[in-house]
Amino acid sequence: MNTHINPFDSAKADAFADTMLRSLNYGALCLMTSIGHRTGIFDVMREIAAPATAVEIAQKAGLNERYVVEWLGAMVTAGIIEVDPTSTRYRLPAEHAAFLTRAAAADNFAVFTQYIGLLGGVEDEIIACFRNGGGVPYEKFRRFHAVMAEDSGQSVLSSLESHILPLVPGLTDRLAAGIRVLDLGCGSGRIMCRMAELYPASQFLGIDLSSEAILNAQREACDKGLLNVDFSVRDLSNFHVSAQPESFDLVTTFDAIHDQAQPMNVLMGICRTLKKDGLYLMQDIRGSSHVYQNVGHPLGTFLYAISTMHCMTVSLAQGGEGLGAMWGEEKTRDYLTRAGFGSIETHRLAHDIQNNWYVVRK
Ligand SMILES: C[S@@+](CC[C@H](N)C(=O)[O-])C[C@H]1O[C@@H](n2cnc3c(N)ncnc32)[C@H](O)[C@@H]1O
Repeated sequence: MNTHINPFDSAKADAFADTMLRSLNYGALCLMTSIGHRTGIFDVMREIAAPATAVEIAQKAGLNERYVVEWLGAMVTAGIIEVDPTSTRYRLPAEHAAFLTRAAAADNFAVFTQYIGLLGGVEDEIIACFRNGGGVPYEKFRRFHAVMAEDSGQSVLSSLESHILPLVPGLTDRLAAGIRVLDLGCGSGRIMCRMAELYPASQFLGIDLSSEAILNAQREACDKGLLNVDFSVRDLSNFHVSAQPESFDLVTTFDAIHDQAQPMNVLMGICRTLKKDGLYLMQDIRGSSHVYQNVGHPLGTFLYAISTMHCMTVSLAQGGEGLGAMWGEEKTRDYLTRAGFGSIETHRLAHDIQNNWYVVRK
C-alpha cells in the first residue's frame, strides 16, 4: 500500500483553478500592456487626463479606432482603465498612470511587460530545445536589444548617480579625477555613455558580442559627441586569456554575467585585467541558488521564465554553460572566489527588488 498518496483536497483544487483563471487574464494583460506602452496610448491618456471617448484617444494617439476600442475592453475588464457607463468615456487614473507611462520613469512597469511578447516569439524554437537540447541564438529574438536598453535605462540609468555609484565610497571622486573603465556585455551602451558624459576625465570602453547592440552604442556616443568612450564587438568566451593584465581601475557588468557562454572565463579575465587596487561592480539577478529558497520571490516566475526562454538558452546556443538568470547569490560568490577575487560585498537597493549589487575586489 502506498502511504504517500494524499486525499484529494477539493478546496485546494478550487483555489488552484482560480489561480489558473487569473493567470489567463494576467498573461493576456501583459501583452495588452506592452501594446499600450509601445503605441503610446497610456502616455496619451495621461496627457488627456479627463475622461475621453475611444475616438478622441485613437485620434490623439494617431491609431486605428477599432483596435483602440478592443484594447480598451481588455484594459477596462482588467481594472486598469475606468469607463463611465453612460458616456462610454475612458479614463486612466493618475494612480495607475504612475506605473504605466513614460512620465513614471523608473516606476514604469509597462516596459517589462514587453518581455512576454518577446519570449512568445521564440516559443517554437524553445520547444525544439526542450526536445533536442541546444539553444536559441540572440538573432532569433526580435527587439531584444531595444527592450534590454529600455530595461536597463530604467533600472540602472535612473539610479546610477543617486544610488549605484555611491555604493563605493570615493568612486565618484576617482571617476572625476580620471580612471580607465571597462563594461563587459555592455549591450546598447547607454550606461557607459552616461558615465562618459558625467566624467569627461575618465576613459570608457564597452564590449559586447552583438554588432547590432554595439552599433546602437556607437550611434549614441556619436550623437552626444563623446570622445572618451569607445565600443567594440568581441566574444568574451576566452577573456581569461585575452584580457590585458592590470589595465583597468573599474570593471562593470550590468546583468551580463549569467548569460555569457563562459561566465567563469569572463570573471577570471576581469580579475586579470583589474589593477591591484581596482574594483569590479557587478549587477546580477537577486535570488538563491536553491529553488526552494526562491518560493515567495516577488519576481520568481517571471525571472525563471526569462531565464528558460532567453538567458539560459542564448548561452547554450553559443555552446556555453547555460548558467541561467537564477544562478543565485551562493553560486555567484563561489564563482567570484574561484575566479580569484578576495573581497565580495553584496548590496541591495531599497527600490530594486530584482538585483543584487556586488562590490568586488582582488
Ligand atoms: C542581458 S544583456 C545586458 C546588456 C547591458 N549590460 C544592459 O544592461 O543593458 C547581456 C549582454 O551580454 C552580451 N553577451 C552574451 N554573450 C556574450 C559573449 N559571449 N561575449 C560578449 N558579450 C556577450 C549580449 O549580447 C547582451 O548584450
